[in-house]
Amino acid sequence: MSEEERLPGRCSCESASEQVYIVMPQHLNSFGKLFGGQLAAWIDIVAGVAATRHCRMPITTAAIDNLRFRESVSQNDLLVLRARVTHTGRTSMEVRVDSFVENVLNGERKLVNTAFVIEVALDENNKPRPVPPIIPCSDGEKADFEAGEKRRLMRESKYALYE
Ligand SMILES: CC(C)(COP(=O)(O)OP(=O)(O)OC[C@H]1O[C@@H](n2cnc3c(N)ncnc32)[C@H](O)[C@@H]1OP(=O)(O)O)[C@@H](O)C(=O)NCCC(=O)NCCS
Repeated sequence: MSEEERLPGRCSCESASEQVYIVMPQHLNSFGKLFGGQLAAWIDIVAGVAATRHCRMPITTAAIDNLRFRESVSQNDLLVLRARVTHTGRTSMEVRVDSFVENVLNGERKLVNTAFVIEVALDENNKPRPVPPIIPCSDGEKADFEAGEKRRLMRESKYALYE
């Protein structure tokens, strides 16, 4: 039996991850708002945590889709990132990361960004390695998985335009 066939499937709730940061002066751009590159770094980190929990293997980030900043974020706000694996291929995992800004004083929360991060599992030679398949265990997760199939096809067409 191949390594691929031996891997048991996992539900996305087994690897879902959340991280919370207090926005401090070192996270701001020169206009006093959260620097977009800092948000991208935090998205990459929490996606990596969820993907590693899913596969329990070393991983690398292959791509990050959709950096669109809907709300600005200020010093002393909380930045809440929630990540879950939405789709798997043979060696890659798609992780959805929703980022919210939370006003620490009144608890009001607004969506800042939804990103999709592609993480690839690596073997000891840094070559892509098969990952456990995602097993959708709710209607919402099934919908995420089906949408993930479409996003994968869209990414392939997009790369054909860019490269
Ligand atoms: C990502 C990487 C491991 C892919 O290696 P590769 O030899 O090109 O492997 P493959 O073409 O077989 O791709 C492996 C998987 O990754 C997916 N993949 C690779 N590049 C991708 C991209 N840009 N977007 C989405 N998926 C991608 C493939 O679809 C494939 O998925 P599947 O096995 O589930 O079907 C390699 O390009 C790499 O190491 N890149 C540098 C990553 C890095 O350093 N990241 C840190 C930030 S710079």
